[in-house]
Amino acid sequence: RERQHQLEMQQLIETFPLFAKVDEHSQEELLLLFRPKSALPGERVMRKGDRGDGMYFLSSGAVEVRLPSGAVRLEPGAFFGEMALLSGGRRTADVIAIDFCQFLVLERRDFNMFTARHPALRAAVSEMARERSHMNALN
Ligand code: CMP
Repeated sequence: RERQHQLEMQQLIETFPLFAKVDEHSQEELLLLFRPKSALPGERVMRKGDRGDGMYFLSSGAVEVRLPSGAVRLEPGAFFGEMALLSGGRRTADVIAIDFCQFLVLERRDFNMFTARHPALRAAVSEMARERSHMNALN
């Protein structure tokens, strides 16, 4: 049973490299905070202009981030929805499921609580948000 759990954790870490930023105990804690969610092909997962309710980790399927310059496709292992949480502002783009999708959602208050205690994780997420907004400003 313990072995099974270890394998599951290992798999999660392999899928989401971001997980490796926190220690084993905190990985367990994250697992308890995650809310599973799914979407059908064509379903809107996030709407531009909405208040951010959480950060999404894509565990299976694929989504498209719809930007004025075109669509960016995200695959399993990617995360999205971090920008509105970090800025305290609104969703910067529509996100559409383009396949059957499964997500692990870290809700806003859990995101704030958890990242406050894990500066390395917060820094990695902020860095990604910075790259994305830089890319969007150029296009
Ligand atoms: P947020 O603004 O909360 O909601 C829309 C999300 O789309 C955003 O967070 C990012 O996670 C994601 N996103 C925005 N721009 C890009 C981009 N250029 N590449 C990949 N993902 C993006």
